[in-house]
Amino acid sequence: MSGSFEELRRHFEEDLTRASSLDDVKRVRDKWLARDNGIITGEMKRLRDLPKEERPAFGQGMNQLRAQVESRIEELRAALQAAEDLRGRKRSDLTRPGYPFALGTLHPIRQLQEEIEAIFVSLGFTVFDLPEVETDYYNFEALNMPRLHPARDAQDTFYFDDNLLLRTHCSTVQVHAMESMKPPIRAVNIGKAYRRDAFDATHSPMFNQVDVLVVDAGITMGDLKGTLEIFLKRVFQQDIRMRLRPGYFPFVEPGAEVDISCIFCSGSGCRICKQSGWIEILGAGMVHPKVLRISGVDDARYSGFAWGMGIDRVAILKYGVDDIRLFFENDLRFLNQF
Ligand code: DAH
Repeated sequence: MSGSFEELRRHFEEDLTRASSLDDVKRVRDKWLARDNGIITGEMKRLRDLPKEERPAFGQGMNQLRAQVESRIEELRAALQAAEDLRGRKRSDLTRPGYPFALGTLHPIRQLQEEIEAIFVSLGFTVFDLPEVETDYYNFEALNMPRLHPARDAQDTFYFDDNLLLRTHCSTVQVHAMESMKPPIRAVNIGKAYRRDAFDATHSPMFNQVDVLVVDAGITMGDLKGTLEIFLKRVFQQDIRMRLRPGYFPFVEPGAEVDISCIFCSGSGCRICKQSGWIEILGAGMVHPKVLRISGVDDARYSGFAWGMGIDRVAILKYGVDDIRLFFENDLRFLNQF
C-alpha cells in the first residue's frame, strides 16, 4: 500500500483546500477519480496483489474512501457553482422580464375559428380567404339585395364610397365560390364582418362569422339539415337537437332561422334560453335561384344550401361568457383562461 486510508484522505483534503475555482475542482476530480489513472483507481488495482484474507477489508475501505472523495468534490463544486451563479446574476439586466416568461397563446376566438375550419376541412370543404373590404356587388347586389332593397337596412354598413364597403357578413363566399368553382361546390368563409352597431354586451361593430355554401345536383333541405347537425354536434361537443323556423334572407328561398336545444339545460328551460329550451344560433336556406344564375350556375340543373353563423355568439355560449366585449378588450386576466 502506498499509504494508509488516513494518509490518502489527508492528501486528498489538502488538494481540495487548494481548489478555489470550478476548473480546480475538475482537476482534483481527474487526479483522484479518473477511470484510467486516478489515484483511487490505481489503489484499487492493488487489490489483486494482496493476500486473500486482506482483500475484503481493503476493498471496503477503498469504497468508503471513494464515496467520501466523490461527495466532498460534489459539495465544493456545488458551492462554487452557486457563487458563480450569484456573480452572474449581479451582472444581469434587471429591466428584463422575470422568469418564467409569460407565453402568448391564440385568442379564444381564433382557437374556435381553427376548430371550425378543421371540421369543414374534414368534411371536404374548401376554405376561402376573402377580402374584408368588399364591393357592393358581392356583399349585396349579387346576393339579391339591389340598391334600395329594404334588407340592406338591417345591415348598417361602413361604406368607403359608393362601391367599396366593409363586408357586413361572410355570405360574400357564395358568389365568389360559384364564380371560381364548378359544382360540386363545398365552400366556407370564416372571418370578420362589420356593422355600424353599438358596442355593448351583445353587439360589436366588428364580429366574426362563418358562412357555408354547398351547390350540386339534387341538393335539398335534407342535406342542409344533415350537415348542420353534424357541424353543431361537433362544435358544441354535445348531442344537440335543432329546429328550423321560417326566416327571411333575400339570398335564400326558403330561408330558415335555426335554433339549437339549449346547451345549458339540454332543453328543459333555464335563464339563458329564457325558459324556452331553445337558443337561436344561425340563418340558413336554399340558395336563391337568382343568386345561382347571377353567379353563372345553371339553376335548372343545380341547387344549393347556405348558412351563416356568428362565431362570437358560439364562443359566448360554449365558454359561458356573458359579455361579447370581453373578447375584444384583450384583458390578459380574461384571455389567460383559454
Ligand atoms: N348573412 C346573414 C347575416 O349575416 C346570415 C345568413 C342567413 C347566412 C342565411 C346564410 C343564410 O348563408 O343562408 O345575417
